[in-house]
Amino acid sequence: MDISGFALVTGAGSGIGEACAISFLEVGAAGVALLDINGKALEVVKEKLISRSRNQQFQCLSFELDMRKEDEVADAVQTCARTFGRLDYVVNAAGIAFKHIGGAANAETSDWQRVLDVNLNGTFYCLRAAAQQMLQQPYLESVIDGRPLQRGSIVNIASLAGLVGVSQSTAYCASKHAVIGLTKTTALDYAKAGIRVNAVCPGMIKTPLIVPGSEIERVTTENVKTLTPIGRWGTPEEVANVIVFLCGGRSSLITGASLPVDGGYTAQ
Ligand SMILES: NC(=O)c1ccc[n+]([C@@H]2O[C@H](COP(=O)([O-])OP(=O)(O)OC[C@H]3O[C@@H](n4cnc5c(N)ncnc54)[C@H](O)[C@@H]3O)[C@@H](O)[C@H]2O)c1
Repeated sequence: MDISGFALVTGAGSGIGEACAISFLEVGAAGVALLDINGKALEVVKEKLISRSRNQQFQCLSFELDMRKEDEVADAVQTCARTFGRLDYVVNAAGIAFKHIGGAANAETSDWQRVLDVNLNGTFYCLRAAAQQMLQQPYLESVIDGRPLQRGSIVNIASLAGLVGVSQSTAYCASKHAVIGLTKTTALDYAKAGIRVNAVCPGMIKTPLIVPGSEIERVTTENVKTLTPIGRWGTPEEVANVIVFLCGGRSSLITGASLPVDGGYTAQ
């Protein structure tokens, strides 16, 4: 994977974010910073990382914060960069899902706002703070052939709902389409400056986001059966594998991409 630098993962307390943090450790990252609103979950993931780390030098930081608060996010990103000395990979995984029964006509402003605040604004706050740091730091060199790789690589988690419409997902769909727009424009702004920015678009992934007994679970289970060519749920690790690839030196020519990780859902 050519991953030797320092990573920051939002939403690291659960699901895809947790799987990314573990993958970074497994492929040789020098350190990982974990950000999440759920402090208890963060501590569990931190313990896991420290107990699995055979490298005494591996550094793990954790920050309990709300991605909707721009100052908290900026402080955490700056503290990470100061402690690690640089910030090489940023994964924006914090997110929430919501179904508006009856669609846009019945959607409450407060539900719309909450979903946009976490999924879009939170991603923007973190991406902005990360880009400010990355623009100042020297290129990371490949551990394989010594070539300069990048100043930094940012991966935003969108969704198949960022590529196509999904019924009753008014705010979620809008937020994920916007994350893809944010990814593309930022990729263009910093391509020559050595920052790569990509998105992944997961399909139906078995994580705590799919709350048992909820409308989201009912619909996604149906979609796995009827609309997912591969015919099964994805795992958080399958998404993390793609994200770590997009962060590392093996993907040095990829920027501005929105990569489906959806078992063929959006190929139809
Ligand atoms: N699971 C799926 O099927 C699926 C599909 C497509 C996209 N996604 C996206 O993947 C990302 C990760 O989802 P997941 O399935 O791992 O969900 P998850 O619920 O397992 O993890 C999300 C994490 O984000 C954290 N979080 C939520 N709001 C936060 C806030 N305001 N501040 C800080 N942290 C906050 C949660 O505490 C949780 O630990 C999300 O952006 C989600 O939209 C998931």
